[in-house]
Amino acid sequence: MNDNLSNSNNGNRNSLPNNNMDIFYAQSNHNPEMHKYIFQGSEYIGQLDFWSATEIKEFGQLLGFECKSLVLDIGSGLGGPICYLSRTYGCNAIGVDACLQNVEISKERARSLKLEQKISFLFGDIINFDFESEKFDFIISIDSIVHIRNRKKLLEKCYNWLKPNGKFLIALECVKKDTPKDLIYRRNKLGAVYCDCYENYILLFKDAKFSIIYEKRYVNKRRDFSASALQWMDNNGQINGRESMEMIKVLSEKGYAEEYLFIIQKN
Ligand SMILES: C[S@@+](CC[C@H](N)C(=O)[O-])C[C@H]1O[C@@H](n2cnc3c(N)ncnc32)[C@H](O)[C@@H]1O
Repeated sequence: MNDNLSNSNNGNRNSLPNNNMDIFYAQSNHNPEMHKYIFQGSEYIGQLDFWSATEIKEFGQLLGFECKSLVLDIGSGLGGPICYLSRTYGCNAIGVDACLQNVEISKERARSLKLEQKISFLFGDIINFDFESEKFDFIISIDSIVHIRNRKKLLEKCYNWLKPNGKFLIALECVKKDTPKDLIYRRNKLGAVYCDCYENYILLFKDAKFSIIYEKRYVNKRRDFSASALQWMDNNGQINGRESMEMIKVLSEKGYAEEYLFIIQKN
């Protein structure tokens, strides 16, 4: 295992940031107008991630969402993606987010779209939740598990919460094993994340007894997104969150970080 990354998941590294999502995901740091600018027109659906509406719709298709499906959305953000998936496929869902403001916005979104009967949004750290065994048909985590320190425990919980053959879609940033330590440290600190490499994620999934049934690498997604984001920040004098976005751009331009999509399945 690479030394730069070996402490990413074990929860023992005091120098890592205290991931306070209420502060990190405050609207002053994450202005929804930026995503609106990047994903123009109908491609903006209230996402707080690197994915367009078309791509998010494809997630539902890849997983095989149906009207009767029950989906858990881990780190549901502003509720945009799961509301959009529910409107598209008719599925029911529970969204969990550790940022209270995001949960309030999500509930309001569900109310205004008349989805309150189909989607519940809950506030809290997903690691502290205890859903019943075999409750969900699907779990999704779009750009959120990078923020969660104890991913081993999370994967074990998800395995238990999924029905037999249930599928778990994970979109996330992987860093290269040879990424310089100082860059990893700055990315973790500025982005309130715990970076890890592709190889360690594969081990993590397999150790939790999941089979990897789909994976795709998106080489330029993070580079293109951060370039547009920084352009919006320049045009709008946005200072908060800028350093974090610059780090994303540096890592992706140097080829140290790439976006991946995985679908893993309970055996
Ligand atoms: C990059 S945003 C993505 C939001 C959403 N998935 C989307 O695609 O629009 C990451 C989200 O994960 C949430 N999050 C981070 N750590 C969490 C945790 N331990 N439990 C629940 N939510 C968490 C954050 O508050 C934030 O809303």
